[in-house]
Amino acid sequence: MRRPKVSIVGAGMVGHTTAQWLAAEEVADLVLVDIVEKMPMGKALDLTQAAPIRGVDVRITGSNGYEETADSEVVVIIAGVARKPGMTREQLLDTNAGIVRGVVEQVSRRSPQATLLVVTNPLDAMTYLTYKVAGFPRQRVIGESGALDSTRFRAFIAMDVGVSVQDVHGMVIGAHTDKDMVPLPRFAHAGGIPLAHLLSPERIEGIVARTRRGGAEITELVGSSAFFAPGAAIAQMVEAIVRDKKRLIPCSIYLEGEYGQRDVCIGVPVVLGRGGVERVIELPLDERERTAFGASVAAVREQLGALKL
Ligand code: NAI
Ligand code: 2OP
Repeated sequence: MRRPKVSIVGAGMVGHTTAQWLAAEEVADLVLVDIVEKMPMGKALDLTQAAPIRGVDVRITGSNGYEETADSEVVVIIAGVARKPGMTREQLLDTNAGIVRGVVEQVSRRSPQATLLVVTNPLDAMTYLTYKVAGFPRQRVIGESGALDSTRFRAFIAMDVGVSVQDVHGMVIGAHTDKDMVPLPRFAHAGGIPLAHLLSPERIEGIVARTRRGGAEITELVGSSAFFAPGAAIAQMVEAIVRDKKRLIPCSIYLEGEYGQRDVCIGVPVVLGRGGVERVIELPLDERERTAFGASVAAVREQLGALKL
């Protein structure tokens, strides 16, 4: 049986960590692409040399071009730069928009049936740009945001409640920014027991605040942005798609009336399978949650206003 092909464009920290998680689970053959000369070939070879120890049969290729990406089932777009001191968000947006546009033009014509999984920040704006440039159905243009923010939320809940991470479920919707993401403690539970029965409102608020700063806390400690959890989040989404798992994961997608919103990409719960986004789940948000989600949409629309399409 032919193994599915997954291409990862941007073989930096998040790119190679994603490849490592995917290879370890034997999810797909992998193609790593980067503009840095020879580097993706070196990382692909390093990972290939780890395969006998892990006992996994996957073909991992590195490239400075796009030919090898042809007919991918999923293309992960992580190429870009992170914000540097003195750089405004708009500058980051302009720089990464140029990079993402170029990548999308290259990959979409070589893999017209692929699902495009966007990771480059600012995430919701880059997902919107990808949707507009690729011209793919919205089901096949998906931003990685909620998978990461939700695993951080779940990790902090498990630590506080003192139970296995396997028993903890919870999700974060909205924009992928510290200020505007919307963790949903009312829908979180451990072993089917609502969070409110297990923790005081103050501790729940503490978890929500730490989740919002999940990425910033890592950057302060490490000195660069996170990669283990982002890579695991992307791999979870890729696996859901290529193995048709029907996983329920919040992702940034182009809304067409859901949650009362149109023409914007933002994180909402969806079912991920072979067809990409197979269903959007509309949650019965209470007033507080609705207000927070509305503010989140407004923040993304502001980003989109600065985007030159
Ligand atoms: P990194 O700097 O380690 O890797 C980025 C890679 O992209 C570099 O190797 C660079 O050479 C490559 N690149 C730049 N322009 C390119 C082009 N035109 N074609 C191909 N490759 C190109 O950065 P890192 O930490 O891997 O982060 C990458 C992006 O992902 C950043 O924008 C970051 O903010 C974002 N990110 C988003 C997350 C999310 O949850 N959505 C989570 C973590 C990171
Ligand atoms: C994070 O949340 C930087 O988006 C990245 O870690």
